[in-house]
Amino acid sequence: MKTKYPIVIAIDGTSASGKSTNAKLVAKALGYVYVDTGAMYRTLAWYCLQKSVDIHDAKAVAAACRKWKTSFECVEVKSHLRAVHLLVDGYFPDNEIRTAEVSGATSLIAAVPKVRDWMKKKQRECIQFGDLVMEGRDIGTNVFPETDYKFYLDAKLEERTARRAADGVNENLAARDQRDSQRASAPLMIALGAKVINNSHLTSEQTSGLLLKEIRARLPAQ
Ligand code: DC
Repeated sequence: MKTKYPIVIAIDGTSASGKSTNAKLVAKALGYVYVDTGAMYRTLAWYCLQKSVDIHDAKAVAAACRKWKTSFECVEVKSHLRAVHLLVDGYFPDNEIRTAEVSGATSLIAAVPKVRDWMKKKQRECIQFGDLVMEGRDIGTNVFPETDYKFYLDAKLEERTARRAADGVNENLAARDQRDSQRASAPLMIALGAKVINNSHLTSEQTSGLLLKEIRARLPAQ
């Protein structure tokens, strides 16, 4: 009997380029499990801030990442949308990880190679939950480079800044993009073979529509 290997849709891109919104729409439409890898990095940054670990000290951050007690849960977050959450000490800090302070700390701890190794291993383990739509910065380049479904979302900086402000978060996205793109370990870049979508002038329905059209054209016949 032929066993089916789970499909992974990799959606990478700049901050506030609509990755989360569109990844959720695509996951919902296909019945796949949504994985927000940024939330995993954010959770570690939040944990370090909570535990007074110096986020500028790569060794201290790597040690915290080695020791923290985590687990996964796969839960229905909305009707017809299941998502994987990384819990620390049994808790998912859903709201706490969305502050500008945590965002800034996250791109620092995300540059630590040992953190990236840990995250990659954990993110690959998510296929235990089935077919995935996974969003982040290095999913197509580093976490699941073997997938045939790679996308890169982007939008003009002013548009992205306005989107974050509308969510009540004011932060310097250009500085974060620069840190994410210039780090030595798995920097943000367009994966080979990725379809690039600039959605500055597109609604999320239009963007997810483009993604779904492209994915469905590539999916094997059932
Ligand atoms: O997608 P986000 O804004 O929640 O991501 C927060 C930070 O986490 C981002 O600035 C860079 C880092 N990140 C990463 O380095 N690699 C990923 N796969 C996901 C996020």
